[in-house]
Amino acid sequence: MKSKKILITGANGQLGRVLAEELRNKYGREAVLVSDIQKITEDQAPFEFLDILNTVRLKEIIGDHQITEIYHLAAILSAGGEYNPLKTWNINLNGLISILELAREFSLDKVFFPSTIAVFGKTTPRENTPQDVPLLPTTVYGISKTTGELWCNYYHKRYGVDVRSLRYPGIISYQSIPSGGTTDYAVEIFHAAIKGEMYKCFLKEQTRLPMMYIDDAIRGTIELMEADAKAINVRYGYNLAAMSFTPEEIYHSILNYYPDFKIEYEPDFRQEIASSWTESIDDSAARNDWGWKENYDLESMVQIMIEELRKQYQIQ
Ligand code: SER
Repeated sequence: MKSKKILITGANGQLGRVLAEELRNKYGREAVLVSDIQKITEDQAPFEFLDILNTVRLKEIIGDHQITEIYHLAAILSAGGEYNPLKTWNINLNGLISILELAREFSLDKVFFPSTIAVFGKTTPRENTPQDVPLLPTTVYGISKTTGELWCNYYHKRYGVDVRSLRYPGIISYQSIPSGGTTDYAVEIFHAAIKGEMYKCFLKEQTRLPMMYIDDAIRGTIELMEADAKAINVRYGYNLAAMSFTPEEIYHSILNYYPDFKIEYEPDFRQEIASSWTESIDDSAARNDWGWKENYDLESMVQIMIEELRKQYQIQ
């Protein structure tokens, strides 16, 4: 049996950096190869520069490094994707198909595909959204992820590829400032509060969205990937939930730490995207199949975000 060798694509993104660190803590530095199209720094070694559309290079990397598992994170997010729909489709969908095809060719042990609440649309029940619902996504990102889920399911059923997937809610993290997402406001708001600036929110105050703290997202991902294959009944994206809140609610939680913090609401095109998604998620399939349970709610997430960002900004 080959020893475990993981490839992460899109490793410079909001999830990738934290996931790489966690997988390296677990399996050793050399067991995790990171790759990205953006500049990778020496301290991230071992790494490879990779444009996900360069299938020839992707194949070489998998062969040369004797990769056994891939966490395929490279993608363009919901808001960013609307600036260039065809490019987004190409990267998000054709990138995934190359990964699935190579997983079949190289008989990889496992593949992880991140899906999202952006697969939901106006035809989806908005509250406590069940696992299996009508999907009519409005963004090209949502379309590419919905289609991606179907391809994952197909490669599993047709070729036995052990592909696993989660529909992440908005991810809140202090390690990087995300860009191109509709849920990014819930990270930006902390930076504004800590810097003593007013925050101009691009969503309306009552826009409720499902969210999750980064530690829960990373732990959930690794738990899913380590679960016994027999326990995995969903080969498209598992619904995954932790908390749901509105901009007004997170603002009020932050006020407990920064009583003078001010917010203004100036919704832009991202409001329409957010309004097409659901408010809360029924993730009982993930809970029943492989034991998912979140650790962080709004209050504990706000507390740890402020603690960590104060350290980053060197504020006592
Ligand atoms: N956080 C993502 C976005 O806002 C949703 O998957 O695009």
